[in-house]
Amino acid sequence: MIAEDFILKSYHTDLQNGTVKWVSPSNIALVKYWGKKADQIPENPSISFTLSNCKTVTEISFTKKEDDGFQFDVYFEGKKNEAFRPKIQTFFERIAVYMPFLKDYHFKIETSNTFPHSSGIASSASGMSAIALCLMSIEAQLSQESNALSSDSTYFKQKASFLARLGSGSACRSIEGELVVWGANECIKDSSDLYGVKFTESVHPNFKNYQDTILLVDKGEKQVSSTVGHQLMYGHPFAQERFKQAHDNLAKLKTVLASGDLEAFITIVESEALTLHAMMMTSLPYFILMKPNTLEIINKIWAYREAEHSKLCFTLDAGANVHLLYPEQEKENVLEFIKNELVSYCQNEHYICDEIGLGANQI
Ligand code: DP6
Repeated sequence: MIAEDFILKSYHTDLQNGTVKWVSPSNIALVKYWGKKADQIPENPSISFTLSNCKTVTEISFTKKEDDGFQFDVYFEGKKNEAFRPKIQTFFERIAVYMPFLKDYHFKIETSNTFPHSSGIASSASGMSAIALCLMSIEAQLSQESNALSSDSTYFKQKASFLARLGSGSACRSIEGELVVWGANECIKDSSDLYGVKFTESVHPNFKNYQDTILLVDKGEKQVSSTVGHQLMYGHPFAQERFKQAHDNLAKLKTVLASGDLEAFITIVESEALTLHAMMMTSLPYFILMKPNTLEIINKIWAYREAEHSKLCFTLDAGANVHLLYPEQEKENVLEFIKNELVSYCQNEHYICDEIGLGANQI
């Protein structure tokens, strides 16, 4: 597929109004997307676990209008929200060419998260994918083309992911589960820079119901937005080597996911997390996004792993919070370890239990 294939060419405008609703999850990258070209094209491929509990619920009501331009209102958790407007305005501008009906309707966008507001968890992946899916459901009602009609169709999912990417890169990995690859690469057939594809290679039972417990070390506003963070990779002295490394790590991870080799999984995932932070520490300007408690937790995890012969490991986003990844069979022990030894490093002792999930749903 090329971008032009996602342009809606003919649609009817008889529909006066309607409502659509989707719930879409967050995701956690194992191989990280960090660095992008124009039009939200990633510099390197990434792969993520789709999550199950951290989700955004979005309802869009649309009403026919006459005048030109975009018209929308945003409500977050029941209250009108002005802070989200610029991001959605930019999103509409980017996707208008693919969805010409956006100027024909007024949209009321009502959204809420299942995870607490200001938990420091990025909601752009779940939020943007939920909006993209709602818009696709509207397109399906208006379209005079057969390809977009069913939300189960490949075209529907691909275009939803394609649109979500234009809202926020990582959002394109939130449409489906349980593992999604985004970014053209040699080892995953049909992989694309334009949208995420479900990882359909073999996955060992060791990864079934894989757990992700998110320790909320810092719930504040992100010190560096990911959009600014990606720009730090322009002219970065280690950029080319890093992009190559991501390709290599994805190829290695493909083998590890098939074999179930958890030791090798840990090495790749932790190295990816630390490399992401190393990129930020070595860019200009430079940033340290970990907090002292992030490091305390990492050291505790390493000590626990050694003492208990555990397969617990960590990954990080572009912030201080720590994602603990571990096999389902270790759940009881790891939760005990968190309660006894890690919870004191979390802001207000706050953590969120999640696990690998199947993707978005229409409601
Ligand atoms: C560190 O998808 O939030 O979480 O495309 O600018 O919206 P934009 O960036 P975003 O970047 C996510 C970066 C990351 C790694 C990842 O999820 O792959």
